[in-house]
Amino acid sequence: MFADYSPRIPLRLILVTIFGVFVSLASASNSDLGPRLEQQLPLVPDVQKEVGFDPHFLEERGLRESRETVHFISDCMHVASEPGHYVYKSPSNDQTACGVYFLTDPDRLVELHFTSFDVPCDRGGLVSFVDGWELNGEVFPSAADHPLSLDERLSEFCERRVRKVFLSSQNAALIQYKIPQKGRGFSVMVRFPKNPNPCNILVDSLSDLFTLRNYGRRVNCTLSAMYPAVVRVIALGVGIGSPRGANREMETGTVHQCDKRGLQDHVQIGGSDGLDSTNLLLLDSICGVNSKPEGIENVMGCGVTSVRLVSSGLFDNSVTVAVRPATENDIIDANLICGV
Ligand SMILES: *[C@@H]1O[C@H](CO)[C@@H](O)[C@H](O)[C@H]1NC(C)=O
Repeated sequence: MFADYSPRIPLRLILVTIFGVFVSLASASNSDLGPRLEQQLPLVPDVQKEVGFDPHFLEERGLRESRETVHFISDCMHVASEPGHYVYKSPSNDQTACGVYFLTDPDRLVELHFTSFDVPCDRGGLVSFVDGWELNGEVFPSAADHPLSLDERLSEFCERRVRKVFLSSQNAALIQYKIPQKGRGFSVMVRFPKNPNPCNILVDSLSDLFTLRNYGRRVNCTLSAMYPAVVRVIALGVGIGSPRGANREMETGTVHQCDKRGLQDHVQIGGSDGLDSTNLLLLDSICGVNSKPEGIENVMGCGVTSVRLVSSGLFDNSVTVAVRPATENDIIDANLICGV
């Protein structure tokens, strides 16, 4: 979708990569706290060493002083969730397009600032910033759920300098790059500032509770987990009754198939094979006020599991869900199977 150099990394690979990372995180002892996704990924030591401490490459903007927070990008598909400096130096003249996939906490954004940049345009070198993740031509958040157009979400550049500071609209962002000239590359400083009103969320952990909220706005917000998952609704306050929460203490219970009943404000629960949530295969569409839902487990056998809050702007909506990866046993009784 974003031009022809976009990495063709099979979704299955990224799912396995991310899932593997989550599994190793989950089994890690409590002493190494914190989601250190990036450390769990296999790094290639030789490449690290080679790009490592080349003084010319690291000399700008005090990189040398903060060496401990320098991360060397060595895998073509690199998932990163730590702040700091990221350095890439092309190991060959290879034309392959690659990506650094940044993922942080649901209530944070990704901020990027290139501190050095040496990507000659002439032999097809190109770097792009994507506001979201892109895989196999599909993007998260989907075009329908993002405040900016696809064009505005993509910035491409080559040559010597990139002055702009890039800020994502959600907890996921991507740098795609193709640098077919050995020794050339870039370094980028990454921070994760707080997001006061999170809307779209790419799940960054294995099992957790997540809340989607519209803050009274006319906006659609999607939560996606890149694995087959079991979703349980923990609390629901979406649509129905009098707008703006006048009577929000009144429990209506969970109403099902709300989209078919023509209720604009509702929560879609479903899945898809790729990152785009525009055409979710829907398991249910719920609305109502229920502070103690029955805890029904929705088992979705799809590569990507999504919960999408659709809001008209007339209500303050919120939904809290528990998401965990589906086990093989869960999948046998899946309520929804994609790709059949
Ligand atoms: C939200 O999604 C619904 C249905 O999927 C659509 O009709 C509506 O236009 C969307 N709203 C916004 C603000 O994009």
